[in-house]
Amino acid sequence: MTERILIVDDDLDSLKLIGLMLQRQGYEIIVANNGQQALGKANTERPDLIILDIMMPDMDGYEVCRRLRQNAGTQGIPIIMFTAKTMVDDKVAGFEAGADDYLTKPTHPAELASRVKAVLARSAAQRRPTTNQTLVIGFLGAKGGAGTTTLATNIAAALAQQESTILADFRLGQSTLGLSLGFARSTGMANLLSRPTSEITARAVENELVTHSSNIRLLLSSSRPKESLLNIAPDSAAMIVRHLRTLGRNVLLDLGAGLNRLSARLIPEMDQLTLAVEPTRVALSLAREILSEIGQAGLSSSRVNIVLINRTQSSLQIPWQEAEQILSHEMTAIISPAPDLVFQAAEAGFPIILYQPNSIVANQFRKLAEEIVHVRGGVARDA
Ligand SMILES: Nc1ncnc2c1ncn2[C@@H]1O[C@H](COP(=O)(O)OP(=O)(O)OP(=O)(O)O)[C@@H](O)[C@H]1O
Ligand SMILES: [Mg+2]
Repeated sequence: MTERILIVDDDLDSLKLIGLMLQRQGYEIIVANNGQQALGKANTERPDLIILDIMMPDMDGYEVCRRLRQNAGTQGIPIIMFTAKTMVDDKVAGFEAGADDYLTKPTHPAELASRVKAVLARSAAQRRPTTNQTLVIGFLGAKGGAGTTTLATNIAAALAQQESTILADFRLGQSTLGLSLGFARSTGMANLLSRPTSEITARAVENELVTHSSNIRLLLSSSRPKESLLNIAPDSAAMIVRHLRTLGRNVLLDLGAGLNRLSARLIPEMDQLTLAVEPTRVALSLAREILSEIGQAGLSSSRVNIVLINRTQSSLQIPWQEAEQILSHEMTAIISPAPDLVFQAAEAGFPIILYQPNSIVANQFRKLAEEIVHVRGGVARDA
Protein backbone atom coordinates (compact mmCIF):
# COMPACT_ATOMS: atom_id res chain seq x y z
CA MET A 1 0.00 0.00 0.00
CA THR A 2 1.24 3.49 -0.83
CA GLU A 3 2.35 5.34 2.27
CA ARG A 4 0.48 8.56 2.94
CA ILE A 5 2.18 11.70 4.19
CA LEU A 6 0.45 14.74 5.65
CA ILE A 7 2.38 17.95 5.02
CA VAL A 8 1.54 20.93 7.22
CA ASP A 9 2.79 24.38 6.29
CA ASP A 10 1.19 27.84 6.11
CA ASP A 11 3.41 28.70 3.17
CA LEU A 12 1.74 27.39 0.02
CA ASP A 13 4.91 27.42 -2.10
CA SER A 14 6.64 25.34 0.48
CA LEU A 15 3.68 22.91 0.58
CA LYS A 16 3.76 22.51 -3.18
CA LEU A 17 7.51 22.04 -3.34
CA ILE A 18 7.75 19.39 -0.64
CA GLY A 19 4.57 17.74 -1.87
CA LEU A 20 5.98 17.43 -5.35
CA MET A 21 9.29 16.05 -4.15
CA LEU A 22 7.60 13.37 -2.10
CA GLN A 23 5.04 12.58 -4.78
CA ARG A 24 7.93 11.84 -7.11
CA GLN A 25 9.20 9.35 -4.54
CA GLY A 26 5.88 7.54 -4.83
CA TYR A 27 4.15 8.76 -1.66
CA GLU A 28 0.55 9.89 -1.50
CA ILE A 29 0.29 13.46 -0.25
CA ILE A 30 -2.28 15.14 1.98
CA VAL A 31 -1.85 18.82 2.81
CA ALA A 32 -2.97 21.20 5.55
CA ASN A 33 -2.06 24.88 5.80
CA ASN A 34 -2.80 25.54 9.45
CA GLY A 35 -2.70 23.76 12.79
CA GLN A 36 -6.43 23.14 13.19
CA GLN A 37 -6.69 21.65 9.74
CA ALA A 38 -3.66 19.48 10.46
CA LEU A 39 -5.27 18.05 13.61
CA GLY A 40 -8.49 17.35 11.73
CA LYS A 41 -6.82 15.64 8.81
CA ALA A 42 -4.46 13.65 11.01
CA ASN A 43 -7.50 12.29 12.80
CA THR A 44 -9.68 11.48 9.80
CA GLU A 45 -7.00 10.42 7.33
CA ARG A 46 -4.59 8.66 9.70
CA PRO A 47 -1.49 9.31 7.55
CA ASP A 48 1.66 7.20 7.95
CA LEU A 49 3.81 10.27 8.58
CA ILE A 50 3.36 13.99 9.28
CA ILE A 51 5.79 16.67 8.15
CA LEU A 52 5.14 19.68 10.30
CA ASP A 53 6.20 23.30 9.93
CA ILE A 54 6.90 25.08 13.22
CA MET A 55 6.14 28.71 12.57
CA MET A 56 2.48 29.04 11.70
CA PRO A 57 0.17 31.90 12.66
CA ASP A 58 -2.78 30.26 14.48
CA MET A 59 -1.15 27.36 16.28
CA ASP A 60 2.56 26.61 16.07
CA GLY A 61 4.03 23.25 15.18
CA TYR A 62 5.01 22.44 18.77
CA GLU A 63 1.42 22.80 19.90
CA VAL A 64 0.12 20.72 16.96
CA CYS A 65 2.69 18.08 17.85
CA ARG A 66 1.68 18.01 21.51
CA ARG A 67 -2.00 17.70 20.65
CA LEU A 68 -1.33 14.90 18.18
CA ARG A 69 0.53 13.06 20.91
CA GLN A 70 -2.35 13.51 23.38
CA ASN A 71 -4.94 11.99 21.06
CA ALA A 72 -5.11 8.19 21.18
CA GLY A 73 -5.90 7.99 17.48
CA THR A 74 -2.91 10.04 16.33
CA GLN A 75 -0.30 9.52 19.03
CA GLY A 76 1.52 6.78 17.11
CA ILE A 77 1.96 8.72 13.86
CA PRO A 78 5.61 9.68 13.31
CA ILE A 79 6.31 13.40 12.98
CA ILE A 80 9.16 15.20 11.27
CA MET A 81 9.44 18.87 12.19
CA PHE A 82 10.34 20.99 9.21
CA THR A 83 11.36 24.57 9.71
CA ALA A 84 13.66 27.47 8.95
CA LYS A 85 14.64 27.57 12.61
CA THR A 86 18.09 26.22 13.15
CA MET A 87 18.86 26.91 16.78
CA VAL A 88 19.64 23.93 18.96
CA ASP A 89 16.99 25.04 21.48
CA ASP A 90 14.34 24.86 18.79
CA LYS A 91 15.30 21.29 18.03
CA VAL A 92 15.16 20.39 21.68
CA ALA A 93 11.69 21.96 21.94
CA GLY A 94 10.62 19.94 18.90
CA PHE A 95 11.78 16.66 20.38
CA GLU A 96 10.19 17.55 23.72
CA ALA A 97 6.89 18.17 22.00
CA GLY A 98 7.13 14.62 20.63
CA ALA A 99 8.76 14.93 17.20
CA ASP A 100 10.64 11.94 15.81
CA ASP A 101 13.03 13.85 13.59
CA TYR A 102 13.96 17.36 12.56
CA LEU A 103 14.74 18.92 9.19
CA THR A 104 15.83 22.48 8.47
CA LYS A 105 14.78 24.51 5.45
CA PRO A 106 15.94 24.66 2.78
CA THR A 107 16.48 20.93 2.44
CA HIS A 108 17.96 19.03 -0.41
CA PRO A 109 15.38 16.62 -1.93
CA ALA A 110 17.71 13.69 -1.30
CA GLU A 111 17.97 14.52 2.41
CA LEU A 112 14.22 14.92 2.71
CA ALA A 113 13.67 11.59 0.96
CA SER A 114 16.15 9.71 3.10
CA ARG A 115 14.82 11.09 6.40
CA VAL A 116 11.24 10.29 5.40
CA LYS A 117 12.24 6.79 4.43
CA ALA A 118 14.14 6.23 7.67
CA VAL A 119 11.33 7.48 9.90
CA LEU A 120 8.73 5.40 8.04
CA ALA A 121 10.90 2.30 8.32
CA ARG A 122 11.39 2.83 12.05
CA SER A 123 7.69 3.28 12.61
CA ALA A 124 6.82 0.18 10.55
CA ALA A 125 9.25 -1.82 12.67
CA GLN A 126 7.57 -0.56 15.82
CA ARG A 127 4.16 -1.54 14.53
CA ARG A 128 5.21 -5.15 14.08
CA PRO A 129 3.77 -7.33 16.81
CA THR A 130 4.95 -6.46 20.24
CA THR A 131 3.10 -7.01 23.44
CA ASN A 132 1.02 -3.94 22.60
CA GLN A 133 -0.13 -5.13 19.25
CA THR A 134 -3.81 -4.95 18.37
CA LEU A 135 -5.19 -8.33 17.39
CA VAL A 136 -7.74 -8.69 14.62
CA ILE A 137 -9.49 -12.02 15.03
CA GLY A 138 -12.00 -13.37 12.53
CA PHE A 139 -14.79 -15.72 13.66
CA LEU A 140 -16.09 -18.00 10.98
CA GLY A 141 -18.59 -20.87 11.12
CA ALA A 142 -17.83 -24.01 9.14
CA LYS A 143 -21.60 -24.16 8.66
CA GLY A 144 -24.56 -21.88 9.41
CA GLY A 145 -25.90 -21.98 12.95
CA ALA A 146 -22.72 -23.52 14.40
CA GLY A 147 -22.69 -21.04 17.28
CA THR A 148 -20.23 -18.55 15.75
CA THR A 149 -22.01 -15.41 16.93
CA THR A 150 -22.50 -16.77 20.45
CA LEU A 151 -18.81 -17.65 20.54
CA ALA A 152 -17.61 -14.28 19.22
CA THR A 153 -19.89 -12.38 21.61
CA ASN A 154 -18.68 -14.23 24.67
CA ILE A 155 -15.01 -14.02 23.74
CA ALA A 156 -15.50 -10.29 23.12
CA ALA A 157 -17.18 -9.89 26.51
CA ALA A 158 -14.37 -11.77 28.26
CA LEU A 159 -11.71 -9.61 26.59
CA ALA A 160 -13.67 -6.39 27.13
CA GLN A 161 -13.40 -6.87 30.89
CA GLN A 162 -9.66 -6.17 30.59
CA GLU A 163 -9.00 -4.31 27.36
CA SER A 164 -10.68 -2.16 24.76
CA THR A 165 -12.50 -4.66 22.55
CA ILE A 166 -14.53 -4.16 19.40
CA LEU A 167 -16.86 -6.69 17.80
CA ALA A 168 -17.75 -5.97 14.18
CA ASP A 169 -20.71 -7.73 12.62
CA PHE A 170 -20.36 -8.58 8.93
CA ARG A 171 -23.62 -10.52 8.76
CA LEU A 172 -25.47 -7.79 6.90
CA GLY A 173 -29.20 -8.38 6.74
CA GLN A 174 -28.97 -11.63 8.72
CA SER A 175 -27.63 -10.38 11.97
CA THR A 176 -28.62 -11.76 15.34
CA LEU A 177 -25.90 -10.01 17.29
CA GLY A 178 -27.56 -6.63 17.86
CA LEU A 179 -30.86 -8.27 18.71
CA SER A 180 -29.35 -10.67 21.22
CA LEU A 181 -27.57 -7.79 22.97
CA GLY A 182 -30.69 -5.65 23.05
CA PHE A 183 -29.89 -3.01 20.44
CA ALA A 184 -32.67 -1.55 18.34
CA ARG A 185 -30.57 0.63 16.07
CA SER A 186 -28.01 -1.52 14.32
CA THR A 187 -27.23 -0.09 10.92
CA GLY A 188 -23.69 1.12 11.68
CA MET A 189 -21.96 -1.34 9.36
CA ALA A 190 -24.43 -0.76 6.51
CA ASN A 191 -24.06 3.02 6.88
CA LEU A 192 -20.32 2.68 6.39
CA LEU A 193 -20.45 0.16 3.58
CA SER A 194 -22.93 2.30 1.62
CA ARG A 195 -20.32 5.05 1.35
CA PRO A 196 -17.56 5.30 -1.22
CA THR A 197 -14.35 3.76 0.14
CA SER A 198 -12.67 7.18 0.22
CA GLU A 199 -15.26 8.40 2.75
CA ILE A 200 -14.67 5.52 5.15
CA THR A 201 -12.38 7.35 7.55
CA ALA A 202 -11.34 6.33 11.04
CA ARG A 203 -13.61 9.06 12.42
CA ALA A 204 -16.57 7.78 10.39
CA VAL A 205 -15.98 4.25 11.68
CA GLU A 206 -15.63 5.45 15.27
CA ASN A 207 -18.90 7.38 15.00
CA GLU A 208 -20.80 4.21 14.16
CA LEU A 209 -19.60 2.26 17.21
CA VAL A 210 -22.05 1.64 20.04
CA THR A 211 -21.11 0.41 23.49
CA HIS A 212 -22.88 -2.40 25.31
CA SER A 213 -23.00 -2.43 29.10
CA SER A 214 -20.60 -5.41 29.00
CA ASN A 215 -18.02 -2.89 27.72
CA ILE A 216 -17.89 -4.41 24.22
CA ARG A 217 -17.87 -1.77 21.51
CA LEU A 218 -19.92 -2.88 18.56
CA LEU A 219 -20.16 -2.14 14.90
CA LEU A 220 -23.55 -3.66 14.19
CA SER A 221 -25.47 -4.98 11.26
CA SER A 222 -29.22 -5.42 11.23
CA SER A 223 -31.58 -8.23 10.31
CA ARG A 224 -33.36 -6.14 7.67
CA PRO A 225 -33.27 -8.18 4.43
CA LYS A 226 -32.60 -4.94 2.56
CA GLU A 227 -29.08 -4.99 3.98
CA SER A 228 -28.18 -8.32 2.40
CA LEU A 229 -28.96 -6.79 -0.97
CA LEU A 230 -26.40 -4.02 -0.57
CA ASN A 231 -23.70 -4.21 -3.17
CA ILE A 232 -20.74 -4.31 -0.85
CA ALA A 233 -17.20 -3.63 -1.98
CA PRO A 234 -14.95 -6.09 -0.10
CA ASP A 235 -12.21 -3.43 -0.18
CA SER A 236 -14.46 -1.12 1.83
CA ALA A 237 -14.88 -3.85 4.42
CA ALA A 238 -11.10 -4.21 4.56
CA MET A 239 -10.79 -0.45 5.04
CA ILE A 240 -13.19 -0.63 7.99
CA VAL A 241 -11.11 -3.37 9.60
CA ARG A 242 -7.94 -1.30 9.18
CA HIS A 243 -9.53 1.64 10.94
CA LEU A 244 -10.90 -0.59 13.68
CA ARG A 245 -7.34 -1.77 14.28
CA THR A 246 -6.49 1.77 15.37
CA LEU A 247 -9.55 2.06 17.63
CA GLY A 248 -9.28 -0.95 19.93
CA ARG A 249 -6.82 -3.48 21.28
CA ASN A 250 -8.85 -6.50 20.25
CA VAL A 251 -10.94 -6.41 17.10
CA LEU A 252 -13.26 -9.38 16.57
CA LEU A 253 -15.08 -9.96 13.31
CA ASP A 254 -18.30 -11.99 13.07
CA LEU A 255 -18.08 -13.31 9.51
CA GLY A 256 -20.97 -15.76 9.59
CA ALA A 257 -20.63 -19.17 7.95
CA GLY A 258 -18.46 -20.27 5.06
CA LEU A 259 -16.09 -18.24 2.95
CA ASN A 260 -17.55 -15.72 0.57
CA ARG A 261 -16.23 -12.67 -1.29
CA LEU A 262 -16.34 -10.60 1.85
CA SER A 263 -14.84 -13.00 4.39
CA ALA A 264 -12.19 -14.14 1.90
CA ARG A 265 -11.12 -10.53 1.34
CA LEU A 266 -10.77 -10.02 5.07
CA ILE A 267 -8.36 -12.92 5.62
CA PRO A 268 -5.24 -10.84 4.87
CA GLU A 269 -6.45 -8.25 7.40
CA MET A 270 -6.58 -10.79 10.23
CA ASP A 271 -3.96 -11.86 12.71
CA GLN A 272 -5.96 -14.93 13.62
CA LEU A 273 -9.04 -16.84 12.66
CA THR A 274 -11.32 -18.85 14.92
CA LEU A 275 -13.30 -21.50 13.12
CA ALA A 276 -16.48 -22.76 14.83
CA VAL A 277 -17.32 -26.37 14.01
CA GLU A 278 -20.06 -28.76 15.09
CA PRO A 279 -18.95 -32.32 15.73
CA THR A 280 -20.81 -33.77 12.74
CA ARG A 281 -19.42 -35.30 9.56
CA VAL A 282 -21.01 -32.68 7.36
CA ALA A 283 -19.64 -29.76 9.37
CA LEU A 284 -16.19 -31.32 9.64
CA SER A 285 -15.98 -31.89 5.96
CA LEU A 286 -16.97 -28.27 5.27
CA ALA A 287 -14.37 -27.20 7.83
CA ARG A 288 -11.69 -29.16 5.99
CA GLU A 289 -12.43 -27.36 2.76
CA ILE A 290 -12.40 -23.99 4.49
CA LEU A 291 -9.09 -24.71 6.23
CA SER A 292 -7.49 -25.56 2.93
CA GLU A 293 -8.78 -22.31 1.35
CA ILE A 294 -7.58 -20.29 4.32
CA GLY A 295 -4.13 -21.86 4.02
CA GLN A 296 -3.99 -20.97 0.34
CA ALA A 297 -4.99 -17.41 1.18
CA GLY A 298 -1.80 -17.19 3.23
CA LEU A 299 -3.02 -17.57 6.81
CA SER A 300 -0.77 -20.20 8.35
CA SER A 301 -2.42 -22.93 10.38
CA SER A 302 -0.68 -21.72 13.55
CA ARG A 303 -2.95 -18.68 13.37
CA VAL A 304 -6.11 -20.71 13.16
CA ASN A 305 -8.00 -21.78 16.28
CA ILE A 306 -10.65 -24.42 15.87
CA VAL A 307 -13.45 -24.54 18.42
CA LEU A 308 -15.74 -27.53 18.61
CA ILE A 309 -19.20 -26.46 19.71
CA ASN A 310 -21.57 -29.13 21.03
CA ARG A 311 -25.00 -27.61 20.94
CA THR A 312 -26.73 -30.82 21.93
CA GLN A 313 -25.75 -33.83 23.97
CA SER A 314 -25.60 -36.75 21.63
CA SER A 315 -23.78 -40.05 21.59
CA LEU A 316 -23.81 -39.94 17.80
CA GLN A 317 -21.53 -36.92 17.64
CA ILE A 318 -17.96 -37.32 16.59
CA PRO A 319 -15.47 -37.32 19.49
CA TRP A 320 -12.93 -34.50 19.50
CA GLN A 321 -9.96 -36.79 18.95
CA GLU A 322 -11.53 -37.95 15.72
CA ALA A 323 -12.37 -34.38 14.73
CA GLU A 324 -8.70 -33.50 15.20
CA GLN A 325 -7.71 -36.35 12.94
CA ILE A 326 -10.19 -35.39 10.25
CA LEU A 327 -9.00 -31.78 10.26
CA SER A 328 -5.31 -32.53 10.91
CA HIS A 329 -5.49 -29.70 13.42
CA GLU A 330 -5.75 -29.47 17.19
CA MET A 331 -8.95 -28.22 18.79
CA THR A 332 -8.22 -25.09 20.81
CA ALA A 333 -11.41 -25.49 22.84
CA ILE A 334 -14.54 -27.56 23.20
CA ILE A 335 -17.75 -25.81 24.22
CA SER A 336 -20.40 -27.81 26.08
CA PRO A 337 -24.10 -27.74 25.29
CA ALA A 338 -26.02 -25.11 27.22
CA PRO A 339 -29.28 -24.61 25.31
CA ASP A 340 -31.26 -23.09 28.20
CA LEU A 341 -28.50 -20.77 29.25
CA VAL A 342 -27.85 -19.50 25.72
CA PHE A 343 -31.56 -18.81 25.36
CA GLN A 344 -31.93 -17.03 28.73
CA ALA A 345 -28.83 -14.90 28.22
CA ALA A 346 -30.07 -13.77 24.80
CA GLU A 347 -33.49 -12.93 26.26
CA ALA A 348 -31.77 -10.83 28.91
CA GLY A 349 -29.56 -9.15 26.32
CA PHE A 350 -26.29 -10.29 27.89
CA PRO A 351 -23.37 -12.52 26.97
CA ILE A 352 -23.35 -15.76 29.00
CA ILE A 353 -20.07 -14.95 30.69
CA LEU A 354 -21.80 -12.02 32.40
CA TYR A 355 -25.25 -13.53 32.71
CA GLN A 356 -23.97 -16.63 34.47
CA PRO A 357 -20.26 -16.18 35.10
CA ASN A 358 -19.88 -19.41 37.06
CA SER A 359 -21.43 -21.72 34.50
CA ILE A 360 -19.34 -24.35 32.75
CA VAL A 361 -19.59 -22.65 29.35
CA ALA A 362 -18.68 -19.25 30.83
CA ASN A 363 -15.46 -20.82 32.11
CA GLN A 364 -14.80 -22.41 28.75
CA PHE A 365 -15.28 -19.10 26.96
CA ARG A 366 -13.01 -17.24 29.40
CA LYS A 367 -10.26 -19.83 29.09
CA LEU A 368 -10.49 -19.70 25.30
CA ALA A 369 -10.34 -15.89 25.34
CA GLU A 370 -7.11 -16.09 27.32
CA GLU A 371 -5.68 -18.59 24.91
CA ILE A 372 -6.60 -16.46 21.89
CA VAL A 373 -4.84 -13.32 23.09
CA HIS A 374 -1.98 -15.30 24.59
CA VAL A 375 -0.25 -15.27 21.19
CA ARG A 376 -0.01 -11.49 21.24
CA GLY A 377 3.56 -10.69 20.44
CA GLY A 378 4.44 -14.32 19.87
CA VAL A 379 3.55 -14.70 16.23
CA ALA A 380 4.52 -12.16 13.61
CA ARG A 381 2.10 -11.20 10.85
CA ASP A 382 3.13 -12.45 7.41
CA ALA A 383 2.10 -9.16 5.84
N1 LIG B 1 -23.13 -23.99 23.50
C1 LIG B 1 -24.37 -23.99 23.00
N2 LIG B 1 -25.30 -24.87 23.45
C2 LIG B 1 -26.53 -24.88 22.97
N3 LIG B 1 -26.99 -24.04 22.03
C3 LIG B 1 -26.13 -23.15 21.54
C4 LIG B 1 -24.78 -23.06 21.99
N4 LIG B 1 -24.16 -22.06 21.32
C5 LIG B 1 -25.09 -21.54 20.49
N5 LIG B 1 -26.28 -22.19 20.62
C6 LIG B 1 -27.51 -21.94 19.89
O1 LIG B 1 -27.32 -22.25 18.55
C7 LIG B 1 -28.04 -21.37 17.72
C8 LIG B 1 -27.08 -20.71 16.75
O2 LIG B 1 -26.18 -19.90 17.47
P1 LIG B 1 -25.50 -18.64 16.83
O3 LIG B 1 -26.49 -17.67 16.38
O4 LIG B 1 -24.46 -18.22 17.77
O5 LIG B 1 -24.86 -19.39 15.59
P2 LIG B 1 -24.22 -18.77 14.27
O6 LIG B 1 -23.23 -19.77 13.82
O7 LIG B 1 -23.75 -17.42 14.51
O8 LIG B 1 -25.47 -18.74 13.29
P3 LIG B 1 -25.55 -18.01 11.86
O9 LIG B 1 -24.93 -18.94 10.90
O10 LIG B 1 -27.02 -17.83 11.66
O11 LIG B 1 -24.84 -16.72 11.99
C9 LIG B 1 -28.70 -20.36 18.61
O12 LIG B 1 -30.03 -20.73 18.79
C10 LIG B 1 -27.92 -20.47 19.90
O13 LIG B 1 -28.73 -20.17 20.98
MG1 LIG C 1 -24.29 -15.63 13.52
